[in-house]
Amino acid sequence: MLDFTRDRLQELSKYGSLSPVLVDTETIGREDWEELQRNLEATIPVYDKVNRVATFGQVSRWRRMVRERLPSEGRILEVGCGPGSFAEDVEGYSLVCLDPIPEMLKVAEERVNSKRRQRGYTAAEFVLGKAEDLPFEDSSFDAVCTLFSFRDWFDKRAGISEVLRVLKPGGIFIIVDPAKVNRFHGFLGWLWMRTYVSLYARLLYGTKGHPWKWLTKTYVSFGTTKDYVRMIREQGFSEVEGKVVFPGMATIWQGKK
Ligand SMILES: C[S@@+](CC[C@H](N)C(=O)[O-])C[C@H]1O[C@@H](n2cnc3c(N)ncnc32)[C@H](O)[C@@H]1O
Repeated sequence: MLDFTRDRLQELSKYGSLSPVLVDTETIGREDWEELQRNLEATIPVYDKVNRVATFGQVSRWRRMVRERLPSEGRILEVGCGPGSFAEDVEGYSLVCLDPIPEMLKVAEERVNSKRRQRGYTAAEFVLGKAEDLPFEDSSFDAVCTLFSFRDWFDKRAGISEVLRVLKPGGIFIIVDPAKVNRFHGFLGWLWMRTYVSLYARLLYGTKGHPWKWLTKTYVSFGTTKDYVRMIREQGFSEVEGKVVFPGMATIWQGKK
């Protein structure tokens, strides 16, 4: 597990001043992505708490919306499962969860599989990997979903192409992430992250150098709902749609192979 001391967090906070040019709507530079991953790992102990407060509890509703869009049965992949916040409530299915952070997978596996055992479902599979290079056979999933992870992918076009490859014909891809409407809306989102969310995270961590400060960068650089409708279509999906569920906090995109 990451060294989570006050000194380490203060050290991480220095990276808040890295050039935003390294993160844009499509890509994240290698060093920035690795730093982002270290900060994401540091969120594990308080991840769900901060998310609930940051979204006024709405995050559970958005997760439910994704579950309702899944096919009634089959093999499902969640890309960027984090600590299992979405996967723990996916009932049934043959479930596979992928993440590039081993500690995320460890926390998620304990959490998700203990719930699945209690409910009488087969254990989910936890796989180390990245969206941009999915370690799965072609046409092997009925649906792929990714919640609050797509904006962290370092090459979003490559990730979408990989999802298309591993989906069965007719399979669906669902993304949830906070897109913005325009630049002004982006500014308001930045303000939101730097004030309300930042203050809460600072109180929880007891230091200015908390990881959410760094996470604001991917939030600010993320594009609009339309940007990703276009991108998903251009990567080969059909019936692509993007619906703003809560402006600046959640857009849900869907495409079909
Ligand atoms: C904010 S967490 C989201 C957790 C969970 N899906 C949820 O619903 O809250 C984002 C996750 O995306 C993962 N991630 C970042 N870059 C990724 C990539 N290129 N491919 C796959 N997952 C990635 C991170 O490791 C992190 O665990």
